Amino acid sequence: MQYCHLTPARYAAGLRKAIRDEDPGRLVDVMVVGAIIEARSCERFAALAPHLDDELRDFYTGLLKSEARHYRDYLTLAETAAGGDVGDRLEVFLAIEQGLIERPDREFRFHSGPLG
Ligand SMILES: [Fe+2]
Repeated sequence: MQYCHLTPARYAAGLRKAIRDEDPGRLVDVMVVGAIIEARSCERFAALAPHLDDELRDFYTGLLKSEARHYRDYLTLAETAAGGDVGDRLEVFLAIEQGLIERPDREFRFHSGPLG
């Protein structure tokens, strides 16, 4: 198998564009974006798992639990960096994400990799 360089997916790049330049805001935003990406992975695995055979379902359910931990960890780190609630930043990035999801994409990616 040969590995190739991947450019950042439009989805993640679009979210990262809105990350503030200066700390601590930059760190808070990086953690919030991480939380959103992890949460969406969790949702994808939850949607996929019921359609798989027992072995693959167990595998993806394990991944799902990891992603659920990761998104909570990212949110906790964001709150620590902010010194409190990050709901306002979460709303900003979820609105950006909605725009990214609703617009067509030329490239299909599933968990950071191209198909085919
Ligand atoms: Fe993860």
